[in-house]
Amino acid sequence: MSETRTIAPAEGKLGVLTVGLGAVASTLIAGVELAKRGQGQPIGSMTQMGTIRLGKRTEKRTPLVKDFVPLTRLEDIVWGAWDVFPDDAYVAASRAGVLEQGKHIEAISDVLREIRPMKAAFERKYARNLDGEHIMEASGKRAMLNGIRADINRFRDEKKVDRLVMIWCASTEIFIEPGAEHETVEAFEKAIDANSDVVAPSMLYAYAAILEGVPFANGSPNLAVDMPFLRDMATEKGVAISGKDFKTGQTLMKTVLAPMLKARQLGLAGWYSTNILGNRDGEVLDAPENFKTKEESKLGVLEDILDPSNNPDLYGNVFHKVSINYYPPRGDNKEGWDNIDIFGWMGYPMQIKVDFLCRDSILAAPLALDLILYSDLAQRAGLGGIQEWLSFYYKSPQVAPGLHAEHDLFVQLEKLHNTLRWIMNEDQITHLGREYYDDPS
Ligand SMILES: NC(=O)c1ccc[n+]([C@@H]2O[C@H](COP(=O)([O-])OP(=O)(O)OC[C@H]3O[C@@H](n4cnc5c(N)ncnc54)[C@H](O)[C@@H]3O)[C@@H](O)[C@H]2O)c1
Repeated sequence: MSETRTIAPAEGKLGVLTVGLGAVASTLIAGVELAKRGQGQPIGSMTQMGTIRLGKRTEKRTPLVKDFVPLTRLEDIVWGAWDVFPDDAYVAASRAGVLEQGKHIEAISDVLREIRPMKAAFERKYARNLDGEHIMEASGKRAMLNGIRADINRFRDEKKVDRLVMIWCASTEIFIEPGAEHETVEAFEKAIDANSDVVAPSMLYAYAAILEGVPFANGSPNLAVDMPFLRDMATEKGVAISGKDFKTGQTLMKTVLAPMLKARQLGLAGWYSTNILGNRDGEVLDAPENFKTKEESKLGVLEDILDPSNNPDLYGNVFHKVSINYYPPRGDNKEGWDNIDIFGWMGYPMQIKVDFLCRDSILAAPLALDLILYSDLAQRAGLGGIQEWLSFYYKSPQVAPGLHAEHDLFVQLEKLHNTLRWIMNEDQITHLGREYYDDPS
């Protein structure tokens, strides 16, 4: 062990600011409040239920993650949010229709009623299927940026929180190509004053967060904090950032199955993925410009895992298609189908079919919780800039320029575990395992 790391203790209150108080955010908040009261289990959350192996297998040390690393306790979280609609968390959760009204919403209605969103920094052109009016009065991008910063500081003072984390749980915006305006702070500042279309609300939230020293996690595929100048600024200021796009359903499956094909050198001819989804997210994604942002995020995964340039015979000619269809009767209960055409020995074709009847926000809420707690941990451990170890949670992980992202779920898991071991000054686990044979003492 070389360098010893120190982590500031998780003392006091952690303010969690969710951008968006829709299905994911309300399911997250309600779930945490239920878990705090012993009225539900935070299933799917590594920080609450996961364990981590430490040392040699013979040592039998496998603590709970939350007993190993100093995480903020759920009891110390204080919620805040922004949304385009004025609904409090009780109304938002009821409207989202994810959790059972009697069992999981009424039971904590008093807490949920108290979480009322602040007015959103929003412009309709970035999500035209949203028509809420709970929007900051001052118009213009500069006013929005200042408004978000003022909200952050007011929340910090009023709620007397010691630390903050911001997480984007708002709608997916229209596709924006990264350009010169996103390269330097000077160019971005100019674009703000010119009210340029390439400055989306998500970027203003992310910029405000970094300026205020608040870690930012990005649950959607919007660029937001994934801009060169913000990445640099976050590194310089020691602010933890990560993104993009929660890896919950179909892409989670893809990043388990594709590494299996690659590991066994099985070929791939095509992967056809389609979804039906009936929540507000599905409605926003029904607009082609918004879906394009999601599509880019979903499509990159296979190419990065299969690495066709190094495996042309197996993956040189893959047809990959992803679609999402808005279908209201299903609400948040998404169904994702995959038809996977593979080939084996001597080129003989085979097929794999996946039909995942999932619940979007039930899968996303624990990821959001882990990202909040780990972003806060990173910040207290002095890790600023991109947190690649949080790739595990994202469809389109943010990595340093020039690096390709690791998409394989189990590589990502090992990266996360090893980072926890590293910040806690524990040995890395390489899985070489020679010691059990060469020196079994
Ligand atoms: N649920 C999943 O499995 C999953 C997976 C990956 C990514 N995501 C992403 O997470 C995000 C949230 O999903 P959801 O199902 O909760 O959607 P949702 O539509 O229920 O909630 C999003 C909320 O954000 C609000 N909003 C939009 N723009 C805003 C702005 N500029 N400022 C403040 N609020 C704003 C909307 O009014 C809405 O209430 C979406 O971008 C979605 O694509 C979800």
